[in-house]
Amino acid sequence: MPLQTKPSPVKLYDFHPPAEDFRSAVLRGLSLPQKVLSPQFLYDKRGSELFDAICQLPEYYLTRTEMQILRVNAGEIAAALDHRVLVELGSGSSQKIRILLKAAPQVTTYVGVDISRQHLQEACAALMGDFERLDAIAVCADYTKPLPIAAIPELQNRPTIGFFPGSSIGNLEPVEVISFLKTVALLGDLIVGVDLKKSPMILEPAYDDAQGVSAEFALNVLTRINRELGANFDLTQFEYRARYNEAEGRIEMAIASLSDQTVHLGNAEIRFRQGETLRTEHSYKYTIDEFQLLAMEAGFHPVQVWVDEQQLFSLHHLKQM
Ligand SMILES: C[S@@+](CC[C@H](N)C(=O)[O-])C[C@H]1O[C@@H](n2cnc3c(N)ncnc32)[C@H](O)[C@@H]1O
Repeated sequence: MPLQTKPSPVKLYDFHPPAEDFRSAVLRGLSLPQKVLSPQFLYDKRGSELFDAICQLPEYYLTRTEMQILRVNAGEIAAALDHRVLVELGSGSSQKIRILLKAAPQVTTYVGVDISRQHLQEACAALMGDFERLDAIAVCADYTKPLPIAAIPELQNRPTIGFFPGSSIGNLEPVEVISFLKTVALLGDLIVGVDLKKSPMILEPAYDDAQGVSAEFALNVLTRINRELGANFDLTQFEYRARYNEAEGRIEMAIASLSDQTVHLGNAEIRFRQGETLRTEHSYKYTIDEFQLLAMEAGFHPVQVWVDEQQLFSLHHLKQM
């Protein structure tokens, strides 16, 4: 008898890009003089699990600090949400949103937007289990592209507010931040988590921890390319690196080749010199003023910023001008 699986209560709108897009983006990125992969490719099911493990690490101050900011200021933030539909970009395990949902009983519709489909569905299902009043809708999509609101009835003709935590905005180059903010302006106001500039002594261990979870997370993208695109990366021939580039104000995360080697991906041959790097992520850090300037260039008006006592992390409320 076939196994009966309980149907998921979560409505899913699936705009995940086709596998062919993944192949062509990877081939394009690996053929550049500075090899590069988009950070979104880090998040297959295993990548999402590893990111959750990173959030628990003692070195990774970002998650616990942002959660602390949310807890301390929950009342004020809940008031800012009003009765709007709450749309979280890059929602991951939807943990942070729980703090706001507890403080804002008037919010009854939540839309999680994430590229990691299964993880997203599980997170939305768990939310619906824990918040009886809540309609949690999963939208599997690339948040750097305009959200296809017309195809999501729950978002039509209803006031919305965007929530973009986790300092994911730091993955974008500053010039991309402006176009990204202009795109998400269609959601109305935005509450966005932004990591602050600080000592490399704090920053570098956060992105390259003693237990090697950050390294496993980054190298998992090679495993994913092997599995999904039939490549033959030998993971023993690569190592993960994370360095703070103070002049650029960003953590640079990369996978370095430990030897001269050729990797096959279908018919393509990708050559690596010893020491050559493949960039997996940039994570930009901003002062409050720097970020507010970018937001204003994108047409937002910064109305409030919440920070923790140690000034490690900031949470900005941006309104449409
Ligand atoms: C740094 S994690 C943050 C997760 C969670 N919001 C938090 O604050 O802990 C980034 C999340 O965004 C998702 N993501 C990354 N790039 C994306 C993209 N271009 N479009 C949609 N989701 C993306 C990942 O799957 C992951 O869940």
